[in-house]
Amino acid sequence: MSRHDFQIPVTFKHRVVFTRGAFGEGRADLAAILSEGGGRRALVLIEEAVAAAWPELAREIEGFFEAHEVVLRGIQVMPGGEAVKADDAWVRETWRWIDESHLDRHSYLIAIGGGAFLDAVGFAAATAHRGVRLVRMPTTTLAQDDSGVGVKCAINAFGKKNWIGAFAVPFAVINDFRFLHSQPEETRRAGLIEAVKVALVKDRGFFEWIEANVSRLAALEPDALETCVEKSALLHAMHISGGGDPFETGSSRPLDFGHWAAHKLEALTGYRLAHAPAVAIGLALDTLYSTRAAFQHSGIRSLEFT
Ligand SMILES: NC(=O)c1ccc[n+]([C@@H]2O[C@H](COP(=O)([O-])OP(=O)(O)OC[C@H]3O[C@@H](n4cnc5c(N)ncnc54)[C@H](O)[C@@H]3O)[C@@H](O)[C@H]2O)c1
Ligand SMILES: [Zn+2]
Repeated sequence: MSRHDFQIPVTFKHRVVFTRGAFGEGRADLAAILSEGGGRRALVLIEEAVAAAWPELAREIEGFFEAHEVVLRGIQVMPGGEAVKADDAWVRETWRWIDESHLDRHSYLIAIGGGAFLDAVGFAAATAHRGVRLVRMPTTTLAQDDSGVGVKCAINAFGKKNWIGAFAVPFAVINDFRFLHSQPEETRRAGLIEAVKVALVKDRGFFEWIEANVSRLAALEPDALETCVEKSALLHAMHISGGGDPFETGSSRPLDFGHWAAHKLEALTGYRLAHAPAVAIGLALDTLYSTRAAFQHSGIRSLEFT
């Protein structure tokens, strides 16, 4: 009998870029990232709603690759929203596209869409060939200020949210602010809840900035929206890269504040309640709970909430 413990040192680079017009005026960032990786092929997947909102996008992408040494193997459009992560149907379709495009582990899958779309496509990318390079281009507030800069991907199973998934650091995340402004107004505003969450657990100054700018944010003023998205994304990325537990092996998951109730509510409502409003309810519950718990620990017996 013998036992051998080996340490496997692994480090990841988490590239997060903020730009406008990633295939056009801001193309230098994407060009540099693709060259840095040395891959030779790329496949682009666009969420249907994004392709519809930006009819010139496919042409722009083709123009970008005409001027770059990476070969574009195709552009595919697929649906988005919660339905794509309800089962593995779109993961299988993505695997098929990856195979048909002859992508290998050095190639790039560039995914342009909302959080649900990125979760499903990200899982396909993480598992095809045990991982092809994923360049995420999140297009919603929530995907840009939280989920897109994270290192997780998942689809639902057994009636439970995110049951099948992986931790997989994307090759790069390109937050193109241009996409934020074509979202439905409700989605654009609701996604700011993840900024409130990360401010509550990580940065008091940012929380006070949100309070001071709440009217501008509620009115979706582009400057305020973009500043808030960028700050939130960076706080998420800094926690993941510097918090000591990027793959969540420990029990403390501060970025999941409000999320236990949120995930339950989403599943209980058959996903009619979207993630962002569910997190808003979850945050309210966890804030009340933690306030009560803190008062109980401090010996105060009753507390009035108005
Ligand atoms: N992987 C993670 O770490 C993580 C973290 C947080 C949330 N999530 C997941 O993210 C999902 C929610 O993501 P979401 O809030 O982005 O919602 P979503 O992906 O459902 O998108 C919302 C709607 O906006 C549309 N859309 C997206 N971008 C658009 C654009 N630029 N213009 C026009 N329409 C656009 C979509 O088609 C969809 O109808 C949930 O499934 C949640 O569990 C994952
Ligand atoms: Zn969330």
